[in-house]
Amino acid sequence: MATIIGGIGTTHVPSIGKAIADGKQSDPYWRPFFKGFDYVHSWLARTKPDVAVVFYNDHGLNFFLDKLPTFAVGASAEYRSADEGWGIPVSRPVPGDADLSWHLINTLVEDEFDVTMCQEMLIDHALTIPLALMWPGITSSDAPWPVKIVPVEINTVQHPLPSLARAFKLGRSIGRALETYRPDLRVVAVGTGGLSHQLDGARAGFVNKEFDALCLDKIVAEPEALVRYSIHELVELSGSQGVEFLNWMAMRGALTGEVRELSRNYHIPISNTAAATAVYANQAAAGRKAA
Ligand code: DHB
Ligand code: FE
Repeated sequence: MATIIGGIGTTHVPSIGKAIADGKQSDPYWRPFFKGFDYVHSWLARTKPDVAVVFYNDHGLNFFLDKLPTFAVGASAEYRSADEGWGIPVSRPVPGDADLSWHLINTLVEDEFDVTMCQEMLIDHALTIPLALMWPGITSSDAPWPVKIVPVEINTVQHPLPSLARAFKLGRSIGRALETYRPDLRVVAVGTGGLSHQLDGARAGFVNKEFDALCLDKIVAEPEALVRYSIHELVELSGSQGVEFLNWMAMRGALTGEVRELSRNYHIPISNTAAATAVYANQAAAGRKAA
């Protein structure tokens, strides 16, 4: 049976790709941010996941405003990226686990999540930057990939957006699907983006430390406390792009066991964002593990 070993939350700001390409990880601006990944690297080296289920939001590379699914799941053996115009190196293609994708899609549709199924899907910076942060060098080298991915895309771009409750339930459905997946895989759930930020409009540059702290506190053991915020309250409290926290909520939903925070780093600013990095352990309930 697949085991959900834990979760990782990380920003996906494109300029990180440029900092990596220019070797600026130790510059004063970047060091406090990149230091937050030391723990991520040691945890991944120790726990060795086979698959990453990545909850992220596309920013116009694969989907555009003309046709925009609320939830889309990749079902491909390989995902390509492309130049989005940020001036950062384009990731090499990333291997997918199509069998696992179809298992997740089957369960999601059974659970009344009528997702868009993508046998071809370009992945943007919201997926490739986190990969480059979690496994340094992996998007640009020819080393073997440490993981295969299943991309799970959530609309955070065009209203109406799904609610925090809905994103959490989507993650729950995927968590339950993983528990019944026969192959003995070790799976990490990843949620990308956030935390508070707003890129445009009168509140451009907005961040909200207090609300971010509340989100990071509650998401560990009391994620249900966060679903009381409507999407419009979330925009007000965390900025129009802070809604990327939906990806974190879906990641947390996929952790169906007992969850502990193993590390947390929070740093302002990285570009226009409050950047958070967190690792969560997921201890499956004893009864379930034996099933
Ligand atoms: C920035 C933040 C994002 O979430 C994104 O997708 C692109 C850019 C930024 O702060 O630069
Ligand atoms: Fe973004």
